[in-house]
Amino acid sequence: MLRCAVIGAKGYTGLEIAELLLKHPDVTISYLADMDDKPVMLKEYLPHISPKVDLQIAKYDFDEIGEKSDVVFLALPHRVSLLYAEQFLNKNAVVIDLSADYRFKKVAVYEKWYDKKHTSKHLLKDAVYGLSELNKEAISKAQLIANPGCFPTGSILGLAPLLRNELIKTEGIVIDAKTGVSGAGRNPSAANHFGELHENFKAYKVNVHQHSPEIVDQLNALSKEEVKITFVPHLLPLSRGILSTIYVERKNGVTESKIHSAYEKFYKESIFIRLKAKGTSPQLKDVAYTNFCDIGVTVDAKSNRVIIITAIDNLLKGAAGQAVQNMNIRCGFAEDCGFFE
Ligand SMILES: NC(=O)c1ccc[n+]([C@@H]2O[C@H](COP(=O)([O-])OP(=O)(O)OC[C@H]3O[C@@H](n4cnc5c(N)ncnc54)[C@H](OP(=O)(O)O)[C@@H]3O)[C@@H](O)[C@H]2O)c1
Repeated sequence: MLRCAVIGAKGYTGLEIAELLLKHPDVTISYLADMDDKPVMLKEYLPHISPKVDLQIAKYDFDEIGEKSDVVFLALPHRVSLLYAEQFLNKNAVVIDLSADYRFKKVAVYEKWYDKKHTSKHLLKDAVYGLSELNKEAISKAQLIANPGCFPTGSILGLAPLLRNELIKTEGIVIDAKTGVSGAGRNPSAANHFGELHENFKAYKVNVHQHSPEIVDQLNALSKEEVKITFVPHLLPLSRGILSTIYVERKNGVTESKIHSAYEKFYKESIFIRLKAKGTSPQLKDVAYTNFCDIGVTVDAKSNRVIIITAIDNLLKGAAGQAVQNMNIRCGFAEDCGFFE
């Protein structure tokens, strides 16, 4: 059995990882860690799991975690994973980090957008960006996997087939994305409490959201020409899910059928990508509590625009689900092992 630890196990994504690992037939949970001195039972946080599960969430003991674990998931805030990844790598564990701390090859970009000096730059060279569908080969050999952000996951999966096949203009890409509030993590803030959210809908961090450089970075890696995007996130009065509506302009002479066949070919072996039939659009209730990314593509001949809509569950395909999918790829299991009954 593969021995897995989760650090930050009381957080939203840490709990989702723990729940997926419990269902995984080839995995045993070696440690669930948090900062509190007093241990608590996992079932206090996941009351719907079997009463027979007697796992505890206990205070970090890094030596013990390192000794007992083949894979360590860091479900920690940005700027905190920086402090912890190396000690587990030194014990030969595979580290899957859910924060942004290892997503950028250019240190200056990270330091600007996360307002933090990068204290383990030497690890960046070998860190692999963990967008499962795009980087499978590299993930299968990586020791440090930088799990993508939730908005980048939906945006990049929506645009990858078009950019890789040079079917669209790379300027003027508009990503209009809406997220549920669990994207902000478990701790409450003035902006995300019920009274502010309920019956409300608003844009936030327009032009200044930290996911825009990550999206640009990854889209540029897919494209021969430099990509220019406008990314506007919105906050929905919902708990989970991200729906992204993406507007691009197709290149002259690119037919609708060429566009659709690019998606079919690109994702033909991707079990968690579902392409919607012509005339239907992805919706959040189809992907909530799943690791799927649903993608719908429409060509508007009048404006020459292609409209791509993607839907994911931010806590699963946008975080914990993709992290476990990456563990499966890295450790030689079927990609969907543990996801379905
Ligand atoms: N939520 C999403 O949809 C989503 C999607 C993609 C990626 N991510 C990324 O995944 C990571 C975890 O997100 P989340 O939503 O699970 O956050 P969360 O609910 O706030 O959980 C964070 C966990 O980290 C612990 N923690 C906080 N500060 C710490 C410190 N200084 N040292 C050690 N542990 C600390 C917290 O402990 P306490 O419980 O004691 O505070 C908690 O267990 C973040 O980097 C986030 O950006 C999240």
